[in-house]
Amino acid sequence: MIKEKWKELGYVNEPIPEGIDIKAEIRRMCKEKNAVIMAHYYTEGEVQDLADFVGDSLALAQKAATTDADIIVMCGVHFMGETNKILCPDKTVLVPDLNASCSLAESCPAEEFKNFVKAHPGHIVVSYVNTTAATKAVTDVVVTSSNARQIVESFPKDTPMIFGPDENLGGYINSLTGRNMVLWHGACHVHERFSVEKILELKADYPKAKILAHPECKGAVLKLADKVGSTAALLKFALSDEAEEFIVATESGILHEMQKGAPNKVFIPAPPNDSTCACNECNFMKLINLQKLYNCLKYEWPTIEVDPKVAKKAVRPINKMLEISKKLGL
Ligand code: 13P
Ligand code: SF4
Repeated sequence: MIKEKWKELGYVNEPIPEGIDIKAEIRRMCKEKNAVIMAHYYTEGEVQDLADFVGDSLALAQKAATTDADIIVMCGVHFMGETNKILCPDKTVLVPDLNASCSLAESCPAEEFKNFVKAHPGHIVVSYVNTTAATKAVTDVVVTSSNARQIVESFPKDTPMIFGPDENLGGYINSLTGRNMVLWHGACHVHERFSVEKILELKADYPKAKILAHPECKGAVLKLADKVGSTAALLKFALSDEAEEFIVATESGILHEMQKGAPNKVFIPAPPNDSTCACNECNFMKLINLQKLYNCLKYEWPTIEVDPKVAKKAVRPINKMLEISKKLGL
């Protein structure tokens, strides 16, 4: 029985029974329940280490679309769980804490986005995956930071397009492709805070370091970068490039896999403009911890539910993204 107080909290807050090996117990429950744990690179390192699969948003959606597990535990933010549920309506999809939102998804309320779409008749609607199911339902094609450029370029150059909600990613894709997509003015509260000045100060201390940046950062930060890409692309570059030092302008959770994959390299998290806060951490991603993961597997709650009418509309642009990505080998 799901307790009322858990419903209010959005997660199960029961203490872990004394004396149990929580990691072994989580793995045991996965086996017993045929559950798969997926984690995004921004979650806590110990959550990533326990997962069956760790990836960027595109890889997580691709994995969900093909898994034969009965339960998907999405250790990430709410929109990632929604994407999984839309792709796998018959499976149980769990996100260990329903409060794990995303500032980009929040910056694009579906009703307002609908009006924006209406105000631009004849435009192809491109939405970043960091959106709610309701926003995806009024979208023609979803993109992630891994495939946004290629998907935009798959439309003829003169196609009128709108892009939401991330103004920084949209502006970056416009600059790469020479398009003039109309942009929704949304942003991620983590990536917006990286400061050019602070990165340049770090670069003075580590002159050989290469700068890695996620395209959700502001254009001025992206101009400094040696590599701009999705979390998976930044990780791949960090592990394969000959440089030994990297300044990393994205959420600091990615440093876990970078350091694991290249223990002798130096990874320096780029500081936000206000160094007194840990604001290069996504407070939403960091809500997911082992205790909540254990409890959500035990009680098979909180589940992600998507209104079937919304899901029916939202699945089309997600599948379109997956089809184009497959065709392009992404
Ligand atoms: P990726 O698709 O690059 O993993 O990005 C997800 C995200 O939320 C970035 O803030
Ligand atoms: Fe959303 Fe930003 Fe957190 Fe990514 S880092 S999940 S875009 S709030």
